[in-house]
Amino acid sequence: MPPKKVYEAMKHFTTIKYGLVQGQFELREKLCNKVLSSHFTPENVVITNGGSEALNLILASFPEKSKILMPKPYYYSYPYLASYNRLEPVYSPMKDDHIDMQDIENKISEVNAIMVNSPTNPTGMVEKPDTIKKLERLANETGRLLIFDEVYRELIYEGTHYSPKGDNVINVDSFSKTFNLCGARIGYCYSKNEELIEKIIQKKTHTSMNTSTTGQSMAIAALDAPNSFKEKNRKIFKERREIIYKGLKEIGFELHKPEGAFYALPRATNPQKVVEDLFDRYKVIAYNGEWFGAGNRIRLSYALKKEKIEEGLGRIEKYIKQENPSTIGEFNYA
Ligand SMILES: Cc1ncc(COP(=O)(O)O)c(C=O)c1O
Repeated sequence: MPPKKVYEAMKHFTTIKYGLVQGQFELREKLCNKVLSSHFTPENVVITNGGSEALNLILASFPEKSKILMPKPYYYSYPYLASYNRLEPVYSPMKDDHIDMQDIENKISEVNAIMVNSPTNPTGMVEKPDTIKKLERLANETGRLLIFDEVYRELIYEGTHYSPKGDNVINVDSFSKTFNLCGARIGYCYSKNEELIEKIIQKKTHTSMNTSTTGQSMAIAALDAPNSFKEKNRKIFKERREIIYKGLKEIGFELHKPEGAFYALPRATNPQKVVEDLFDRYKVIAYNGEWFGAGNRIRLSYALKKEKIEEGLGRIEKYIKQENPSTIGEFNYA
């Protein structure tokens, strides 16, 4: 559930005029005062239709055929966003579901930007601050843009978050996950790179124009929620993580323990069949890991009430044990 303040604010909402393309000043200012580090000002922020639009606008600012390096597994929209903008995705295979810095360093000279997400969808892993600092340094030394997608930054159960910064860094965040406001479609990007922010505003002016002012009012109210809101949310997701991790292990799946976000990515042979069987006959939604560049895995979301997670685990267990035991066997987790 979103913070109560959001519902209260909606009772008094009256203005439905066009808004500023960059986003309502009050929201940008409040983000600077309450969320972002002190060296950002409202001029450095653009409010967008979810983190999704921010990612799209950032990529739209590159010339055709630019190359975008992304760790693999990746958030499944990244390659599409690159190709819709006539850019070329270049992949850097992760090692044990973490960024392989050596591979990134080897490839950096052939690309124009690096697009990284942590906490990560679909792996559920939280990248180490040290690694992110290395990426930040690399971007600022080589002049390559680091696009850092941190939409799950408030959902970390182990490890800590580090937000990179600098003239060659742009960060993407969202109200969807932190405040359970995904339908309001409010996200934002922020950067000290004034030229890039200008380009993004220019593209937005001629595409979506302003982000919904209704949604922005919800976001302004959400920022007034007490800190305990985020803490409570994190606790709820952490408990769900324990349930899904333990449940999948007990069924026999091999998987890393997710450290953040709300996904588990267990090993499975023939993931397409598993996904179809689970959906058609067991009414369980799983995604094929291949859609995220994670072959032989399935992705499960635990953004559900714990009773539903338990029910889903029961159905998965029935399917695996009765119909498809070879799905989870004989893997060396790599
Ligand atoms: C890694 C990642 N980035 C960005 C988004 C986009 O979120 P939104 O557009 O709702 O802010 C998502 C949504 O699931 C995501 O998982």
